[in-house]
Amino acid sequence: MTPEELAHADLDLTVDGAVATITLNRPEARNAQRPRLWAGIARVLEELGPEIRVVVLRGAGGTFSAGLDLGLLDPAKPDEEGNFITVLGLDDQAIIDQIDVYQRPFVLLGDPRFITIAVVEGHAIGAGFQLALACDLRIAAEDARFCMKEPALGLVPDLLGTKPLVEAVGYARALEICASARIVSGTEAGEIGLAQVVVPAAELDGVLAATVDALTAHPHGAVTATKRLLQEAPARTIDEQRLAERTAQVARFRALAGG
Ligand code: CAA
Repeated sequence: MTPEELAHADLDLTVDGAVATITLNRPEARNAQRPRLWAGIARVLEELGPEIRVVVLRGAGGTFSAGLDLGLLDPAKPDEEGNFITVLGLDDQAIIDQIDVYQRPFVLLGDPRFITIAVVEGHAIGAGFQLALACDLRIAAEDARFCMKEPALGLVPDLLGTKPLVEAVGYARALEICASARIVSGTEAGEIGLAQVVVPAAELDGVLAATVDALTAHPHGAVTATKRLLQEAPARTIDEQRLAERTAQVARFRALAGG
């Protein structure tokens, strides 16, 4: 994407060797998300080269994201790109198809080609929380504030957040967090398995660098194949998973032998 296209998508992108960093760059609105941002993240991810092993997602200005741009829910702003009040003029299937497009970057963040890390400081509200959940790992500041706000607004989380939340913290805790729409601190996120690393905000960059080093230390092909096995494990029986492991190992043997 060109710098102009990235700016239009409220994004900044830096690539340093095997690491791509996507920054939500609309700090004046606490990195509130619009459809243009979702389209931009999808395009950035699709255009990354095979050398990229880690994708870092973070927010500019000391906060991750305040979630959906609330202007999109405002009947007084019908001209806002993606305004949901306007969308209501469509039939059900058309709305479902539109949300499918919006969900695309959240799906792509699971691509086995790379490991995705959300660096969460400040707020991760609603769509912000879901964007963090779409990443493989979350590194959070102790005082970060996660909140699944959608039920409080009469809505459901529909940007793929429900599945990784249940997988991270279990059904009962996920329900309690969503139904109450309460704030989960970074410290609590670490305790319940929502965040994998939790540190004071000042230490985020250091711990991110160490994590990236560790995640890129070993052969890319082996890490990619292992991520795929782990992702697919919950949907398989033991015997299906054993077969998947054997099959993946054959490919690894052949890669190591250069064949
Ligand atoms: N959409 C649009 N603008 C937003 C925004 C949002 N979600 N969140 C913050 N902003 C804007 C504010 O309007 C304000 O703009 P102005 O300077 O022009 O007045 C600016 O960002 C700074 O906001 P605050 O002064 O409120 O900043 P703060 O640091 O004191 O508070 C905050 C930060 C706690 C995130 C607070 O802004 C807030 O609660 N925002 C709304 C969060 C929210 O409800 N998000 C929607 C969740 S639901 C969802 O995402 C998914 C869905 O499907 C509905």
